[in-house]
Amino acid sequence: MAKKGRRRDCPRKGGLQQAQHNAKKGGRPSNKSNGINKKKKNNFGSGKKKYTDDKETGSMLPLGYDPLQRILMVGEGNFSFSRALVRLFEGNGFSLLASCFDSEEILHKKYQDAKMIVDEIRSAGAFVKFGVDAKDLMGGTGLAKKKRKEGLSYEDLFDRIVFNFPHCGLGIKDQDKNVLANQQLLEGFFRSAVELLRPEGEIHVTLKSGKPYDMWNIVGSAHRASAKKLVHSTIVSFKPESFPGYSHRRTIGFKEGLDKAENEEIESRSRTYIFVLDK
Ligand SMILES: C[S@@+](CC[C@H](N)C(=O)[O-])C[C@H]1O[C@@H](n2cnc3c(N)ncnc32)[C@H](O)[C@@H]1O
Repeated sequence: MAKKGRRRDCPRKGGLQQAQHNAKKGGRPSNKSNGINKKKKNNFGSGKKKYTDDKETGSMLPLGYDPLQRILMVGEGNFSFSRALVRLFEGNGFSLLASCFDSEEILHKKYQDAKMIVDEIRSAGAFVKFGVDAKDLMGGTGLAKKKRKEGLSYEDLFDRIVFNFPHCGLGIKDQDKNVLANQQLLEGFFRSAVELLRPEGEIHVTLKSGKPYDMWNIVGSAHRASAKKLVHSTIVSFKPESFPGYSHRRTIGFKEGLDKAENEEIESRSRTYIFVLDK
């Protein structure tokens, strides 16, 4: 467990990787060897799992997330989705690299609650990076340098790369130009994410449904951008209430009293697209 308040910005090797190694050798590792103390109490209650059996994925946690997965969060708003994962993982954030596009300064101006949330997930052992462009994840995560020097190993890659509600937020009024700008963001993201995905990994992108989001043609974007390396595996309805404390944020920021604090905008009409590597 990280010391409270200690700041770490880059992925660390250790308990999680040992746990993944053990898991590959044969099922789930014991509490002792995986560096994850399941009996440990956290800040979020009794430590008992509240979420059992997500019917659509067959996993114990929503959308099949698991504390043993190495997860890269892209384009976070106020980091509340990353915090929700940490909560679902019983206060364990060691497997998580959470990132946003904004600089730290801009983030705090846009979302008043971000600082408190970032502090919380760091205390749980998560790594946080600001100014990470979804179109250049290799550079943003700091792995480009390692790739140049010694090449990347399996341990550097991710089991899950997650971008919830991508939107470039440029305020483009013309619908066609707006769709194009968001398609370019998606394509850049897929092109970049495919390089960092473990062979059995998944890319999750959650979008609202309906116009104009359906016009983005996310499946075609993934296919095209990854030179057909990525295939669309499934679509799962996204239930924000499954992610404790998650509060969706818009790209332009959050204004108390003006914007909807709850997840009204995304409830009932959002879906997670899951992509895997073509075998
Ligand atoms: C609608 S908001 C969703 C925020 C957050 N994912 C959530 O679910 O609340 C869209 C997000 O996309 C991010 N974004 C826009 N362009 C980006 C880029 N090139 N790279 C990474 N993130 C980007 C914005 O900064 C913003 O946080």
